[in-house]
Amino acid sequence: MKVCVIGVGYVGLVTGVCLAEIGHDVICVDNIESKIEKLNNGISPIYEPGLEKFIEKNMKSGKLNFTTNLKYGVEKGEIIFISVGTPSLSNGQADLSYVEAVAVEVGKYINDEKIIVNKSTVPIGSGDWVSMVVSESIEKNNLNKDVKFNVASNPEFLREGSAVGDTFFPDRIVIGSSSKKAIEKMLELYKPIIEQSFGWPPDVPRLLPKGQKIPVVVSDLTSAEMIKYAANSFLATKISYINEVANICEKVGADILKVAEGIGLDSRIGPKFLNAGIGWGGSCFPKDVSALAYIANEYGMTPQILNSIINVNREQRLKIVKKVQDELKIVKGKTIAVLGIAFKPDTDDTREAPSISIMNSLINLGAKIKAYDPIVKERPHTLSEKVTLSKDSYDAIKDADLLIIATEWDEFRTLDYAKIKNTMNHNIIIDGRNMFNKEKFEDLGFKYMGIGR
Ligand code: NAD
Ligand code: UGA
Repeated sequence: MKVCVIGVGYVGLVTGVCLAEIGHDVICVDNIESKIEKLNNGISPIYEPGLEKFIEKNMKSGKLNFTTNLKYGVEKGEIIFISVGTPSLSNGQADLSYVEAVAVEVGKYINDEKIIVNKSTVPIGSGDWVSMVVSESIEKNNLNKDVKFNVASNPEFLREGSAVGDTFFPDRIVIGSSSKKAIEKMLELYKPIIEQSFGWPPDVPRLLPKGQKIPVVVSDLTSAEMIKYAANSFLATKISYINEVANICEKVGADILKVAEGIGLDSRIGPKFLNAGIGWGGSCFPKDVSALAYIANEYGMTPQILNSIINVNREQRLKIVKKVQDELKIVKGKTIAVLGIAFKPDTDDTREAPSISIMNSLINLGAKIKAYDPIVKERPHTLSEKVTLSKDSYDAIKDADLLIIATEWDEFRTLDYAKIKNTMNHNIIIDGRNMFNKEKFEDLGFKYMGIGR
């Protein structure tokens, strides 16, 4: 099938590449020229493990093309994905201006019957709204007033850092539409994934056996839109819950690792998303929980659980700052090393990274901060100019009074902490991700603090 993906970010790029890999002809459109230029040279503009080789392979075979020419993409594609950003406005509402701009352009250039798919995470009702915006644009800008289209919602559940595997081997595929035709076309598009019948590089392990069927949820537009917000909010709730339990563990002397193991073995609870830490961040949980809370407010409801998890998460970041104050007493003039800037490992994404709010708060308290991340090499615009970006972990930690682990990158597991101990001013470590064995660090002579242990 011929597919056009508009918005070549973490979701659009991975979706486009994977659809090409399962046999479709894909045109990926973005309005940032430098991004498209990089891609046309086979270079991924984002750090996503395993992605680049699929880009290269599918560009070579001609199945995958990148362009800034939206008109070309819209005219060629029978299925048009909208996968631009939907960030938060200051009141928590989702900013739909990027989606709107794309919908207007699609209406301008649509030349025959198409399916327009909301892949972006959009508020409930956006499917109908996109339909209206496209219709109005056709009316205003298109010579062919009779051109037809249907809208579908196909929310995305991939995680950054494992986006390629999540796309080829998803837990489920959700398709919402009021059009039978749109649903049929979307099922046809995803058939190789639903049936797990696509070819796979022999040197990369398949995450699911060939032929094992992927569950598909077919619904109305509204339910599909709600599934996305409800899923992200539930996952964020799980993390805030375990963080709250971790805080209680610290008071009563229990170990959150044992507690999480003990509750996670209950099949009704499950072990995933029970890692206590410095709170959830990233480009999606914060904005999506706020957007769902905003929607509830629009209907005169007070979303008590959503409001609570937002507060618990804000406080969880502040708790690290409090721990630093408790340990160092005077923070002003102290040197603090921070390992990890990205909001989670295996991504270069720093949107809403807990590390950033923690570093900015410590800078405000007068600390000197030296930070290192294996992949994030440019200062995120939200990070204080006063934070020094170090060339490696050892450089960041040298002469520090305290070390904070903010992201659980594998690289930090194998550092020579015996050597590090001798280069620090004081041997205090706050392991914000519970990635280390407490006893091991205490044996090395560190004062070790995790979260909830
Ligand atoms: P992103 O910011 O990485 O990418 C968006 C892209 O859209 C950018 O490259 C931007 O240049 C492009 N764009 C914006 N306006 C455009 C226009 N008018 N024409 C062409 N291109 C345009 O965003 P993302 O992280 O990929 O997220 C996209 C959507 O997917 C969001 O709604 C997000 O909530 C959702 N989502 C993201 C993830 C994730 O892991 N990042 C996972 C699931 C769902
Ligand atoms: C999340 C969801 O997991 C995806 O299903 C969804 O598609 C995506 O949001 C989205 O809508 O954008 P992602 O943000 O890439 O994916 O990362 P996660 O692995 O979910 O982590 C989110 C945050 O929660 C990170 O800051 C992470 O450190 C934190 N986290 C996660 C914990 O603190 N503890 C955990 O047990 C798990």
